[in-house]
Amino acid sequence: MAQTIKRIGILTSGGDCSGLNAVIESVVKSASSKNIQVLGFKMGYDGLLRNDYVLLDNASVRNIGHEGGSILGNSNKTNLFKRRIFDEKGEITYRDDSMIAVKNLQNDSVDALVVVGGDGSMTSARDFARLGVNVVCIPKTIDNDVPYTDKTFGYSTAVERIADALSSIKTTGYSHNRVMILEVMGRHAGWLALEGGLSGDADFILLPEIPYNIDHIAEKLIERYNLGFKSTLICVSEGAHPKNGKVTATVNSKYPDSVKLGGVGSKIAFELEEKIKNVTDQEVRCTNLSYIQRGGNTNYSDRILSFRYGSFAVDTIMKGEFGVMVAMRGEKIVTVKLEDVVGNGPMGETSKGGMKNVTEDSDLLRCARSMGVYLGE
Ligand code: F6P
Repeated sequence: MAQTIKRIGILTSGGDCSGLNAVIESVVKSASSKNIQVLGFKMGYDGLLRNDYVLLDNASVRNIGHEGGSILGNSNKTNLFKRRIFDEKGEITYRDDSMIAVKNLQNDSVDALVVVGGDGSMTSARDFARLGVNVVCIPKTIDNDVPYTDKTFGYSTAVERIADALSSIKTTGYSHNRVMILEVMGRHAGWLALEGGLSGDADFILLPEIPYNIDHIAEKLIERYNLGFKSTLICVSEGAHPKNGKVTATVNSKYPDSVKLGGVGSKIAFELEEKIKNVTDQEVRCTNLSYIQRGGNTNYSDRILSFRYGSFAVDTIMKGEFGVMVAMRGEKIVTVKLEDVVGNGPMGETSKGGMKNVTEDSDLLRCARSMGVYLGE
């Protein structure tokens, strides 16, 4: 028989995205309706370590569903199984502090924990499940790269931001006869660039999954110019890279996630301008949409998905099913084992079950090709 659930915890971990507050609202309301108390741990796993939480009830989640960010805060710096500590000399050492969190949960009489996060956060959740914590995860990320789910929440709002930005950039591009580039996020998956670019009417879309050839892009621009298209709109994923070339990134070893992607849009702008300036006299400008994709109000589609995920997570806990992620499959919400999602690697290692990438059989890719969008090959 499933254990009686009286109290659950929730934390929002990893980078923020739209829909986190809607998930919190849904978990709290669904739990309250079953007389279950909810403790909201602050700043992701850090809150578990410091036992820093707030009691959440229906009043505390009133009117938060549309708001971006998380009322609990987010951190993508804390892996409690391999916690980074700076010694007196400023050198990094690692410590396993996971049992402090487990004891805190026991002392707080938390029967189950809802972890809202991406792959790194779910790897820690898998490890807490291995230590006996009753965990249910909810997949969040604007990148939509979590496997075994059709959609992560946060993605739809970010796509909308990209489409809006492209619409704005397009008109100024037309007025000046310029080539306009928009760099968007997504890490090593091209979903944001592909869906955002398509819906924002981009002429070219460059994805991590399809390495680009800068000479071919320049030739295509000249061809378009000669056909009378004086302005071109290009949507570039931050993870896009040339054939046989590296992604553009900065490395800062002080951070656990030490490689920060970004800058490929400006790099391409510079290279393209050099290649076309003596032929078309066009200027090339780049805008990096950056964190605008992660902030602001949550659109209706992400709110609904967050509500569905949050309520399903509570129902899953009630059924006594743990060590799983809730996921979307077609019209249904289902559960998937965490070990399938993030792999079966050693404790504390952020091994992945496999990232969900744009593949040749993706219908969005077919659609882009069919509509004549150039993919930089
Ligand atoms: O994974 C979400 C994401 O926004 C990526 O698209 C981006 O590369 C990264 O996070 C940025 O992370 P940070 O907030 O650490 O700069």
